[in-house]
Amino acid sequence: MNAGIWGMGRYIPDQVITNFDLEKRMDTSDEWIRTRTGIEERRIAGDEVGTVHMAAKAAQKAIEHAGIHPEEIDLIITATVTPDHSFPSVSCEIQHEIGAVNAAAMDISAACAGFMYGIITGKQFIETGAYKHVLVIGAEKLSNLIDWEDRNTAVLFGDGAGAAVLGPVSEGRGILSFELGADGRGGKHLYEDKYVKMNGREVFKFAVRQMGESSISVIEKAGLQKEDVDFLMPHQANIRIMESARERLGLPPEKMSVTVNQFGNTSSASIPLTMVEELENGRVKDDDVIVMVGFGGGLTWGAIAMRWGR
Ligand code: UT7
Repeated sequence: MNAGIWGMGRYIPDQVITNFDLEKRMDTSDEWIRTRTGIEERRIAGDEVGTVHMAAKAAQKAIEHAGIHPEEIDLIITATVTPDHSFPSVSCEIQHEIGAVNAAAMDISAACAGFMYGIITGKQFIETGAYKHVLVIGAEKLSNLIDWEDRNTAVLFGDGAGAAVLGPVSEGRGILSFELGADGRGGKHLYEDKYVKMNGREVFKFAVRQMGESSISVIEKAGLQKEDVDFLMPHQANIRIMESARERLGLPPEKMSVTVNQFGNTSSASIPLTMVEELENGRVKDDDVIVMVGFGGGLTWGAIAMRWGR
């Protein structure tokens, strides 16, 4: 039994903060942010909107897109580093909010690679036949962890949520291969101590190496060639990191999905937010080969190669 994506949805907060808004708050410039990161603006959730709210909205859309009812969800996995509370889990709160009364629920902490960890975990339950529908969500309110005095990090992050319903799909479609990894030695380069703390250059070097290597690894494990890839959907942290992965695969610019300009780095939400953008634009067709790849604090990483469609 192959696991694939039946439906997806996202939630984007209304409030837009542009680079020009940040120029007024700190010693930075639109020029610096755009050329060093590719970010033009980001969304920030207001005080009344928490991670659970964003995640539940994204989940409802994904369930609708999948054409099932909330009671049919067997398991909810939410990847987040910004839960509203340490417990109950975000997933339990979502279960209540959306009426997924038959679902088990748990959260995953793998920072920006969290959505990849969630998808790959959910896939196992479907492929063993244990569960039929697994809801995987990446949701973050990173604005809660931003030190507005630290220009090294404050300009990078944004809020949002994306969700996918996984289910069994026909042979040859769905998730074809995966890779997951972690290297705790690099934890000191990106961590939370009330606020996000980061050694940007070290994370940059790690990300460039890992994004390229993991993408190639999942392509090979799936028995595919680089030329077979229709979409590279990388974690949206920095356009320069993303471009290096694209060049490593020898793909033309139109085959890489980019939303970092609109949303900044939304951690575990960035890959599903980007995938929904492509679906809404009608760019993804059945049987397209998609490579998703993420990296983040931990350090963690994860990638999948998939063939779209049920
Ligand atoms: O989801 C995973 C999260 N993290 C990442 O993916 C981050 C990976 N790293 C990066 O994306 C990049 O390293 C950054 C965008 C964070 C920084 O870019 P960089 O090209 O590595 O710049 P840098 O750290 O080498 O800093 C260059 C200069 C420094 O000034 P000096 O020391 O050369 O005088 C910084 O103080 O840029 C300065 N700078 C800024 N200037 C204006 C740092 N932040 C800003 C800013 N505005 N916001």
